[in-house]
Amino acid sequence: MTLLPRLFTLAFAVFALSAVPLSAAKKTLTVGFAQTGAESAWRTANTESLKSEAAKRGINLKFSDGQGRQENQIRAVRSFITQRVDAIVIAPIVETGWEPILRDAKRAKIPVILMDRTVQVSDESLYTCFVGSDFAEEGRMAADWLAKHVDGKGRILELQGTPGSAPANERRRAFAEAIAKYPDLKVIDSQSGDFRRSGGKEVMEAFLKKHGRNFDIVYAHNDDMALGAIQAIEEAGLKPGKDVTILSIDAIKEAVQAVVDGKLNCTVECNPLFGPKVYDLIEKIVAGETVPRVQYNKDELFDATNAAAALPTRQY
Ligand code: AHR
Repeated sequence: MTLLPRLFTLAFAVFALSAVPLSAAKKTLTVGFAQTGAESAWRTANTESLKSEAAKRGINLKFSDGQGRQENQIRAVRSFITQRVDAIVIAPIVETGWEPILRDAKRAKIPVILMDRTVQVSDESLYTCFVGSDFAEEGRMAADWLAKHVDGKGRILELQGTPGSAPANERRRAFAEAIAKYPDLKVIDSQSGDFRRSGGKEVMEAFLKKHGRNFDIVYAHNDDMALGAIQAIEEAGLKPGKDVTILSIDAIKEAVQAVVDGKLNCTVECNPLFGPKVYDLIEKIVAGETVPRVQYNKDELFDATNAAAALPTRQY
C-alpha cells in the first residue's frame, strides 16, 4: 500500500472511533460506602468483601470508617452526595436518625443501598433497597437450639450488641419471645458489650462479680463478645462450654473452631460477604433495572454435630 491510501485508512479509523457514542463505553462506577467501624472480626470480613469485590470489578470505591459513631457516617454520606457518587452503601450503626440525610440523597437522585442493618424511617422510598441477614430469625434459631440443649431450664446472662442497632434490637427481642414459652428459662441480666471482644470480656467479668456462680448460660449477640466472655470465664477458673453453656451469632472461623474445641456450644451464622450482592444490585440500579426491595441471606447454625465438617470451608 502506498502512503496516501494508508493515511486515508488511518484517518477513517480515527473518525470511526470518535463517532462511538460515549454512553456505549463502559462507565467506571463510583460508590461511597459508609461503614460502621471495625468493631468485630465479622465487620473486618465485611469491609474486605466490599473492597476486594470493588477492585475486581473496577469500581471506584470511596470507603469511610464511621469509627462506631453515627455522626461520622452521616458526615461521610453528606460528602458522597457532594461528590455526586453513582450509589451510596450504608451499614447503619443504629436504626434511628437517618431521615434528613436520606432525604438529601433522594433529592440528589443518588440510590442508597442499606447493607447489613436496617433503619426506621417514616418513608420507605428514602432508600432503594436492603440486603442483609434476618436478625430476628438468628435470635429465634439461637433460642430454639438452646431450649432443646438445656431442656427448657437455665439462668441466662445476655451480652448485647451496640445499643440501638438493628442486630442488638432484633436478636434480643426475638430471643426473648422464643424463650417465653419456657417458664424455667430466663434472662437474669443483660448488658451491652458493643459487639467488641474487649466489651464481652469486661461485661462478663462484671457479671461474674455480681452473680458469682449463679447462672448457667451466656447468650452473646456476636462471636467476638462470646470469645471475650470465654476468656473471662476461663480466668475465673470455670470451663466454658461445660460449666457454662455459651451461644452466639456470626459463625466466624474462630468461633466455629471454639465449637470444635468444646468452649462454645453453638454459633448461628450471619454471613458478612456482601460484596458481590451489593455491586450486582448497584449495577442493575444504575442500568435502570428494578431490584428486590429486601433480600435476606439464608443462614445456618453450627454446633458440636457439624462444626468440624464446616471448619475447612469457612470463608471468614
Ligand atoms: O450487624 C451485624 C453485626 O455487627 C455482627 O453480628 C457483628 O459481629 C457486627 O459487628
